[in-house]
Formats: sequence, C-alpha cells, structure tokens
Amino acid sequence: MLKNKKILLGITGSIAAYKIILLVRMLMKENAEIKIIMTPAATQFVSPLVLSTLIQDKVAIDFFSENTWANHVMLGRWADVFIIAPLSVNTLSKMANGQCDNLLLATYLSATCPVLVAPGMDEDMWHHAATRKNIETLKSYGNHILTVQKGFLASGLQGEGRMEEPENILLYLKENFFRGNQLQGKKVLITAGPTYEAIDPVRFIGNHSSGKMGFALADAFYEQGAEVTLVSGPVHLGKSYRGIQLISLHSANEMYNACMDIFEEMDIAVMCAAVADFQPETVSKEKLKKKDQGLELTLIQTQDILKSLGALKKPNQFLVGFALETENENKNALQKLVSKNADMIVLNSLRDKGAGFGTDTNAVTILDKSGNETTLPLETKKEIAQKIIQIIIQKAHA
Ligand code: PMT
Repeated sequence: MLKNKKILLGITGSIAAYKIILLVRMLMKENAEIKIIMTPAATQFVSPLVLSTLIQDKVAIDFFSENTWANHVMLGRWADVFIIAPLSVNTLSKMANGQCDNLLLATYLSATCPVLVAPGMDEDMWHHAATRKNIETLKSYGNHILTVQKGFLASGLQGEGRMEEPENILLYLKENFFRGNQLQGKKVLITAGPTYEAIDPVRFIGNHSSGKMGFALADAFYEQGAEVTLVSGPVHLGKSYRGIQLISLHSANEMYNACMDIFEEMDIAVMCAAVADFQPETVSKEKLKKKDQGLELTLIQTQDILKSLGALKKPNQFLVGFALETENENKNALQKLVSKNADMIVLNSLRDKGAGFGTDTNAVTILDKSGNETTLPLETKKEIAQKIIQIIIQKAHA
C-alpha cells in the first residue's frame, strides 16, 4: 500500500524520538521512499547516523551543511505526506506561529502535502493552555493531529502525553492518505473464521479455520476504498483498520442472522467462513456428565448462508463463495457454484501443501459460471486476497 509512496519524516526534540527508528523500519518494510529531517534538538535524543544508515541517505538537519543548501521547498514538494513525530511542545508552538528558525520549520511552512503530527511531551505541558491553543491552531491549518496516549512518561510520572505508538502512526497513514479507490463507495460483506456449535456450556463442535484468509480479504477490500463489514466466528485476530466494521459471533445461526440482516445493502459478498454444516439438535444447559457407554449426539443441519444469499441476490450484487474440498475438487466446487447461485467460487484443496487452514499462505483455483478457471499458486494470504479482489472487480464489471 505504501510502495513507492514518498514519506517525509520530521523528528523533533522529545524523548519519544527513539521510537522513530521503529517507524522507519516499518515504513521500509512497506517499501515506502523515506527522507528524514531532524531539528538540532532531536539529534540529542536519536543519532542521525542510525537513521541515515537505515534509510541509506543523508538526514537533513541544517540549511547549510558541507557547503550545500538543503532545499526545503523541494523537500516539501517531494513528499506525499509529511509526518512530524514526535512533535515537541517547542516545535508545536513555532509551527502554530509560523516561525522559521530551522530546516524542519521551513519545510513545514513550504510543504504542499498533508501534514500529520504525533505530539509527545509531559502531561503538564500537554494540558497547558498554550499547548491546547497551539493544537487548535494546527487543526485550523488542516494538519492531522494524532492524540497523545496515557501511560508512563519519561519524567517518571504517569499521565497523558505519550506519543502515539509507531504501529498506530503507520495505520493512520495508510488509512487516511493511501487507500486505493477502485472500490470507493462499494459496500462489501465478508465472513471469516470458524463457527462454534455448542453441545453444552463447555463443549462445542468447531473446525480449524483461523480467520486469516477472511481477515486478509477484509484488509484488501478496505485498502481499495470499500466500506467493509467483516462477520467473524471466534478467532484470535483483531481487525487491521479502524474503519472496518467487525461483527464477532460464535454460531452458524448467529452468522446467518448477521448476514441476512445486511446483505440487501451490499454490493459484494464473500463467504470465506468455514461454517459448520451441523449443529447439535439440543444444547444441554448443564455440563454433560461422563458416562461409561459413551454419548450419542443428534445433529441437525445449519442454515446454508451462501445458498440463502444466493436466493436473494439481485443482478447488481456479486456473490462469492469458497469451497474447501479434499477430493474431486473442481467438480464439487462447480456444483456449489451452481447450487448456491454464486457468481464465483474460490476453491481451496486441503491436498495443497501450505494452503487452507491456519497457514499464512494459500493456493486457490477460481471458477466462474462461464467455465473460466484461474489458478493462483502458493503466496501469502494477503497477496492471494489482493489477487482475488482484482478478479472480482474484473468479473463484476464484465
Ligand atoms: O481461516 P483460515 O485458517 O485462513 O482458512 C481459510 C479457509 C480454508 C477456511 C478458507 O479459505 C475456505 O476455504 N473457506 C471455506 C470453508 C468451507 O466451509 O467450505 P465449504 O465447502 O464447506 O462451504 C462452501 C461455501 O458455503 C463457503 O463459502 C461457506 O462459507 C459456505 N457455507 C457453508 C456452510 C453453511 N452452513 N453456510 C455457508 O454459507
């Protein structure tokens, strides 16, 4: 998402400056292009040598160094986003008042790109009336302000003033400046994870789905600008983006109700969850006691969510099913595509190594009603999700 995006990072004199090394590493992992400016005070908190070694470029500090003039106008125009983190109380005050006594401030005043600031200071400074006023002034300039966090402060006190954590700065950056627009305005429903069908208050029937594939799909749709509702069974994952609406539930019945409630307003629905096909006919109120002769359970069928959505589907809606097979994969998947009235089915074979439940990778075959077949060989679930979405976009517009 941040590949080749131009990120200008401004660092000012606050103890949180040491955390910026982590942010730089994260940006590099995303293949962003990074340039760094530091105020002279920031160099007391983090070494320019460490930062320039990481980005393999000079760190700009002075207007005039080694007989060259660091061109603040070009830096400000080069960037897609200028992040100032940590933002000290001193630099905040100068920004609010248009002062220009170092390279970072000159670049701020000439930047034409969006500016994001992550303040970091002691609690009393943060609550001072002057700081409050300066923050409001930056807001009025259209700058994006990350709120400070509560916790342990360098002064030894506990309170508000901690700079937002680097992973959240990265998240804000992605969510607010770099989402694609291929699916802007489109509403997407995704199901993920397993369902748990209760036997008694302690036991359930479940399966090995981790939710990774469904969550990767939710991320990929969101990154392309879609409004995403992710309906998930019990998993150990959190949503990656604040803007994704996550509905967490347990049983097939709950998943059925959640999907039926919102399907009408959806443009695209992708049923990736491994929904239980059977549930116990009755759920014991008390924990079942161990018996010598074993235990017989009567199972009844759950509602088929994909099939029910297929029956309701309107011509402007695009419905995608998944199929998890262990034999006669293509034949079974095609049968599901037709019987459930889906537009496309993503086939997972448990015979493919590294694919299916729990893994970070997947390999799938995509089948559609016209008999087209696309094979996506083993890649990360993130990459597979991005490719599935491109195929959905193509087919939905065809
Ligand atoms: O979660 P991970 O660990 O990342 O693993 C991903 C996955 C292997 C679970 C995923 O890629 C996958 O294959 N999901 C579908 C699993 C499945 O239940 O397949 P199925 O062939 O039993 O079901 C066919 C389709 O009907 C699926 O879209 C399923 O969501 C849907 N279904 C099934 C039963 C039911 N009662 N209602 C349904 O909607």
